[in-house]
Amino acid sequence: MAALSRIGGRALADLLPDLHSTPGPVYASLARGVTALVLDGRIVTETRLPSERELASALGLSRATVTAAYDSLRADGFLASRTGSGSYVTVPAGSEPRPSFARWKLRTEDDTDVIDLSCGALAAPPNLLPATVGEAASRLGPYLLGDGYEPAGLPVLREAVAARFTARNVPTRPDQVLVTNGSLHGLDLLLRLLIGPGDRVVTELPSYPGALDAVRANGGRLVPVPMAPEGGWQVDQLQATLRQTAARVAYLTPDFHNPTGALVPAADRREVLRTARQTGTTVVVDESFVDLGFGVAERATAELDPGVITVGSLSKPVWGGLRIGWLRASTDLVHRLAALRTSIDMGGPVLDQVVAALLFERIDEIAADRIRQLVPQRDALVRAIADELPDWRVTVPQGGISLWAELPAPLSTPLCMLAAQAGVVLVPGSRFGVDGTLERFLRLPFALPAERLVEAVQRLVGVWRQLDGSGLAARQLVVA
Ligand SMILES: Cc1ncc(COP(=O)(O)O)c(C=O)c1O
Repeated sequence: MAALSRIGGRALADLLPDLHSTPGPVYASLARGVTALVLDGRIVTETRLPSERELASALGLSRATVTAAYDSLRADGFLASRTGSGSYVTVPAGSEPRPSFARWKLRTEDDTDVIDLSCGALAAPPNLLPATVGEAASRLGPYLLGDGYEPAGLPVLREAVAARFTARNVPTRPDQVLVTNGSLHGLDLLLRLLIGPGDRVVTELPSYPGALDAVRANGGRLVPVPMAPEGGWQVDQLQATLRQTAARVAYLTPDFHNPTGALVPAADRREVLRTARQTGTTVVVDESFVDLGFGVAERATAELDPGVITVGSLSKPVWGGLRIGWLRASTDLVHRLAALRTSIDMGGPVLDQVVAALLFERIDEIAADRIRQLVPQRDALVRAIADELPDWRVTVPQGGISLWAELPAPLSTPLCMLAAQAGVVLVPGSRFGVDGTLERFLRLPFALPAERLVEAVQRLVGVWRQLDGSGLAARQLVVA
């Protein structure tokens, strides 16, 4: 395995805590510091570490101390070396997260006391869909006279999606829109067309697990770039990674990123897009959450660079059960994707697309209702965590449907396993990473009513106490 990117001595020194503040030998503090950075996803696996001499000089330590730390990291499985590619960080064998998350195994019809926080998506808005489906059914007549196969999507819906992009300052013709069965379907189609085995795909770290799985399933090699600890992109690092890896595709979620809820400023997007143009990387922006911002929205990424491909969906502002998404690209790419699609399915259901076209007429109003629903739910969850689990750290997100909580110990997986027994279904932080790291994080969606969220936190308090007293907190890496 060759190193994908490298970190310099100064940059690593900046990330490390004070190595003299804890008891014990300095080499052990250095090894612990690097391990923590790897486990938290601050240094991604396959990153090449500086030479022992360079790091010793940056930290003002003897070379022997750094050698001892590297030896210790190597012995614990966090460092590997190969002639020609130096020493690069890795995780101990067997740390990979399970590649797919079997929601269907977790659910049964009579699980009424189970609080399901495994999904960042809302129940359907009350009354809206039955009324809209009724209206759509009354308009179905003309469609029934044709064969019903529209691989690129019903014209009326393609027009509605294009009009919405145009209203957001992204001039779009209907033939630049492909209607898909959700945004993940759109991403998968793109990956099928754009990447081959071993092609590199840059993603944020953490990132949406479904997208990471889609990249893997299409043979792509994930190149994750850590998000900034305070939220948003680390622009320099993203640019350096694009340059170093010649990535084929970058999959990015600058609008209320799942799971952190971060919104990336237009200036940062512009910088990254400029570099991606230079490196010939196709940027795919996922706008699944774009309508669910709690403050001022940012300019659309495709306004900054019309070459960007956008995927979006009604799943988050309206309902995931609709299975209506879209993709905006060049007309030529849309034609090729529609042709590719016909080898998998012949198009989306007509009735659902008519429903979606009607929903687009009221999408601003629907999204505003969703935000009015989400803000008090978010606040109730933040408050409950602050009151009941004060050693967990959460940042109030700028949009989206989830919090990204930072735990005081890397216990996300055992926490989720015990929580399931206490009737709370959660997905551990490591599912949002690529290699079993991020165990100190937990995604907490606030899609449920406030009282259910508060009840979930109360159940988690008992689980957390059990874990905290179990001695597991002292273990360095726990991945299912
Ligand atoms: C960032 C992101 N993209 C895509 C999806 C998939 O959504 P869809 O239902 O549109 O396929 C999700 C679902 O959680 C998501 O969080």
